[in-house]
Amino acid sequence: MQLKDQVALITGGGSGLGRAIAERFVEEGARVAILDRSQERIDEVVGALGDNVIGVAGDVREMADHKRAVAECVRAFGKLDTLVGNAGVWDYNQTLAGMADDAVSPAFDEMFSINVRGYLLAAKAALPELYKSRGNAIFTVSNAGFYPGGGGVLYTATKHAVVGMIKQLAHEWGPYIRVNGVAPGGIGGSNLAGLSALSQDGHRFSDIPFDELMPRLVPLEKAFYTQDYAGGYVFFANRRDNGPATGVVLNFDGGIGMRGFASPNMGAELAEKFGEF
Ligand SMILES: NC(=O)c1ccc[n+]([C@@H]2O[C@H](COP(=O)([O-])OP(=O)(O)OC[C@H]3O[C@@H](n4cnc5c(N)ncnc54)[C@H](O)[C@@H]3O)[C@@H](O)[C@H]2O)c1
Repeated sequence: MQLKDQVALITGGGSGLGRAIAERFVEEGARVAILDRSQERIDEVVGALGDNVIGVAGDVREMADHKRAVAECVRAFGKLDTLVGNAGVWDYNQTLAGMADDAVSPAFDEMFSINVRGYLLAAKAALPELYKSRGNAIFTVSNAGFYPGGGGVLYTATKHAVVGMIKQLAHEWGPYIRVNGVAPGGIGGSNLAGLSALSQDGHRFSDIPFDELMPRLVPLEKAFYTQDYAGGYVFFANRRDNGPATGVVLNFDGGIGMRGFASPNMGAELAEKFGEF
């Protein structure tokens, strides 16, 4: 029970990674509030996890919705120890060259208002309670916060911006509040949505041949799923193991950046020398 008596607020907790974090936090003894724009998804999570979870329907682009989520969390559970900024959208690898001229500005605004402004507003709204609890904030980054090709230029730019935001807030909020990030790689079981401004409403993350694709992309040669990533958040949220960690982003992506120029079959030498398992 690494999070016994802790209270967390998770944006985008209705689906995918955010839902898996909520489930794992409850398993570890925490009580959790989730902020999500989908009431239907909130109802599902609250139905599955019971009294340890409350849901608030709202849009991460709105300060009032974040304030309401923080207030409802404190009303229900008495405090807030950990903010998990996580709600995000993708651009389905849309290139700049392939975008219509008049789509660039609206697509930029939609992407940055959710992926970056949504985190900043969450941070601002949660700050007084995090200060009181000497708590911490954790933001979901992505491999796209470090490397190209995990999205198009808009998504990659937002995730690089989030890395900068984490470092600056760690600088501004020490010594009272730790601020860290988790940068997952591809997440199986996600419903990551595209941009309305790029007419991507019909795009489905589940249409990507994830199980077949991921093992070819990462040195660990595996596809990872929502629940595989939740432990990274438990690490940063618990009060025992990570006292010195602030301004850190955990690359938690199957080793995407470790690929280099190596051959696709990176494990062949070890398998030949020591045998297949
Ligand atoms: N899916 C991947 O492969 C992947 C990889 C790396 C990082 N990430 C990041 O993980 C995070 C979670 O994404 P996911 O893959 O679990 O996607 P998801 O769509 O399954 O979950 C995101 C949740 O955020 C909510 N949401 C989206 N926009 C919102 C808004 N404006 N206001 C309130 N709620 C909103 C959605 O309703 C959804 O429930 C995102 O920050 C994403 O960039 C995803």
